[in-house]
Amino acid sequence: MDSAGTTTGFTLKGRDGRARMGVIATTRGEIRTPAFMPVGTAATVKGMMPESVAATGADVLLGNTYHLMLRPGAERVARLGGLHRFMNWNKPILTDSGGFQVMSLSSLRKLTEEGVTFRSHVDGSKHMLSPERSMEIQKLLGSDIVMAFDECPALPADRKRIEESMQLSMRWAGRSREAFGDRPGHMLFGIQQGGLERDLREESARALTQIGFDGYAVGGLAVGEGQEAMFQCLDFAPEFLPEDKPRYLMGVGKPSDIVGAVARGIDMMDCVLPSRSGRTGQGWTRRGQVNLRNARHADDPRPLDEQCACPCCRGYSRAYLHHVVRAKEMIAGMLLTWHNLHYYQELMAGLRAAIAEQRFEAFRADFDAGEALGDI
Ligand code: GUN
Ligand code: ZN
Repeated sequence: MDSAGTTTGFTLKGRDGRARMGVIATTRGEIRTPAFMPVGTAATVKGMMPESVAATGADVLLGNTYHLMLRPGAERVARLGGLHRFMNWNKPILTDSGGFQVMSLSSLRKLTEEGVTFRSHVDGSKHMLSPERSMEIQKLLGSDIVMAFDECPALPADRKRIEESMQLSMRWAGRSREAFGDRPGHMLFGIQQGGLERDLREESARALTQIGFDGYAVGGLAVGEGQEAMFQCLDFAPEFLPEDKPRYLMGVGKPSDIVGAVARGIDMMDCVLPSRSGRTGQGWTRRGQVNLRNARHADDPRPLDEQCACPCCRGYSRAYLHHVVRAKEMIAGMLLTWHNLHYYQELMAGLRAAIAEQRFEAFRADFDAGEALGDI
């Protein structure tokens, strides 16, 4: 309980090695960690009804400041009762702050100490984002977990660029904290930057901890460095962050990235992969990635995953999935997204149970063995 009497915050309930299991309490319900957050960029998890997303076991969705400010507009969402009401999702929502998406999606960007001006990728209109405006937009949306406004250099970048960018993000983190103010029932997370450099990650963590946040993200990873380099960075980066607060690895990842990140002390993740790859005919199972477009499925009466209890695997054959993927039917993306999100949430539930029961390494060995077998 905080000073205002609201019950938001993180409770660490178990550990096994560096892996952690816990619960984040919010006014809209609990988030069980390690948690995977499906991405609902434009106020929808593409191809899924919100009640179906909840049925997969998701406790929290990710929304995007950048997309929603451009279309339909944060003030409009606020007038319509906030993002939860607007998209009919009553559980917690975490919103990203926009800086990262501006750098990857918009054009004619101009970065200054104040913030970023840019042109919309939707209609070319001119916009501005700063720590203060990002906090205002995330408040208008009604986000439960607000992310500090940060910047992340495109790779490859040299050390000097990474250092200056990190230091700018830390000044923006201070302004984000100031602008966020005191909002009982809402949490603000800081974002660690510093590329793959140990000392910069440490400096960034120290700056954020001094400001003080309700949670801490590891940003600037999964930007093309590869799994081995990412894991090397995760061998030290999370350890610089406070133990008693949730740690969120942004934009990750494949199932094997998730297992490796949890092993290194990460509590939350988000990624478009299960939903986006579902729309391109890819399924994720205990035996890795399956391309339903492949002709070998055309006569296969078996479900995508024999061990899966999702509506896709209970009702449909690989042959049917192959057919609707090839025919570009909407149900192809709907079924595969459902299966993928279900599989991801089962993986998270498996990780949580294994940590609680002190058998994380055995769980990880089983997971690796399944992926090594490959699809049959
Ligand atoms: N999504 C993936 N990586 C990042 C990051 O470094 N910062 C933000 N704000 N969002 C991200
Ligand atoms: Zn399934």
